[in-house]
Amino acid sequence: MAANDAIFLGAHEAPGQHSVQRCDACGADWHELDASPACPHCGGLLAIIHRAPVDSMGASAAPAALRHAFAQHCCARPAGHASGVWRFEQVVMPAAGAAITSHPEGNTPLLSRARVSAWAGCDGLLLKHEGYNPTGSFKDRGMTVGTTQAVRTRATAVACASTGNTSASLASYAAQAGIPGLVFVPAGKVALGKMAQTLAYGATTLLVRGDFDDCLRLVQDASRELGIYLLNSINPWRVEGQKTIVLELLQQMDWSVPDFIVLPAGNLGNTAAFGKALREAHALGLINRMPRLVSVQAAGAAPFAKAFRDSFRERLRVQAETIATAIRIGDPASWDRAVRAIRDTDGLVLSVTDEEIIDAKVQVDAAGVGCEPASAASVAGVRQLVRSGVIRSGDRVVAVLTGHVLKDPGMLVELHQQRDDFAHANRPVEIEATVRAVADVIARRAREVA
Ligand code: F0G
Repeated sequence: MAANDAIFLGAHEAPGQHSVQRCDACGADWHELDASPACPHCGGLLAIIHRAPVDSMGASAAPAALRHAFAQHCCARPAGHASGVWRFEQVVMPAAGAAITSHPEGNTPLLSRARVSAWAGCDGLLLKHEGYNPTGSFKDRGMTVGTTQAVRTRATAVACASTGNTSASLASYAAQAGIPGLVFVPAGKVALGKMAQTLAYGATTLLVRGDFDDCLRLVQDASRELGIYLLNSINPWRVEGQKTIVLELLQQMDWSVPDFIVLPAGNLGNTAAFGKALREAHALGLINRMPRLVSVQAAGAAPFAKAFRDSFRERLRVQAETIATAIRIGDPASWDRAVRAIRDTDGLVLSVTDEEIIDAKVQVDAAGVGCEPASAASVAGVRQLVRSGVIRSGDRVVAVLTGHVLKDPGMLVELHQQRDDFAHANRPVEIEATVRAVADVIARRAREVA
């Protein structure tokens, strides 16, 4: 087994440390408090390798004991009070100690909504709604861990490139930790809610003339040259936090494994994190088989889906364009890790058109749940797999909704108020301040429905 394929630290590796940062490319180990944004030897991505959890006798922890510890841990410590991330501390950041910066986050619901299930054609569809996190997206799970690491390494500033959600999350957690935050976003391409959050929480916001891929290159250079701690999803500690989406949904399902876990994909950090979570959960005996992981890209930003169709023979990049601005990414950073996640889980990669994304979002919104456009890609993906016969009746499917409906109010206002060709438009009606006018509107609506 190659060094970078190891799941946990061997007994004699890295004495005195709970975890190391291991280079994906050359296998070199770095101390868990090293703040380098990439391998100082070869520039490869770093991954966290933990020591496998042990029981009080020093033996490998039994799965039942681990599950019990996760369930008990929830409210055990003040700093991580009620956090759905820090509950899994042993497999996320065992050495965090008192340094935790937590809002808290996680503990998001697993919803079942008949309308969405019927539309997708999948009775066993559950929606893991990450929009319930404190800044409204799944990014908070990685950011609580990344910011905690920034505090541990005494970072003087933190930075990220973002399509909007990471920047909102970084701004919020940096504010809580009292560390200056710097965000790089593509000018004119960030949804209104995300931009509003980022400004409100006080991060220095750079509108870069370029796309997300340009922003990511720039922040990596800036981080290296200016010594700013990098908090993109290539930061290995962010990946550790994002693993808890999978751990928490498994816990909510009493550790019985769904047949499919479906998620939207852009920079592929989350796909990579899901793969790592599943590998570790399997190695620890928490689950006895792998669910199939399905990454769904927007058709205008789908280099990973295209490469999948060609068995990942080549790493591709595209000029990205899609209505789902969160995943408007043409050159995903966590490519190799995501390939491994798909291969390890006999997974699939799909692309869905902007029309399919909007159709799915209409259903999720009209069910009273709501999500941002990129999130709806997962539900659109489920429908596609049902239609192609891959998901069969009786399959249990979890679709991850990655962000809150209020993240992109601009798109909603345009769809509902301004577009003549949108069949589901729910136009507001301006009236005189009389009961008569109200009655007229009600009567008209009743006629429309009839
Ligand atoms: N869904 C939402 C709502 C996102 O914001 C993102 C990524 C994804 C899905 C895709 O996750 O990149 O790990 O494959 N947003 C990043 C950001 C890029 O900057 O907020 P991924």
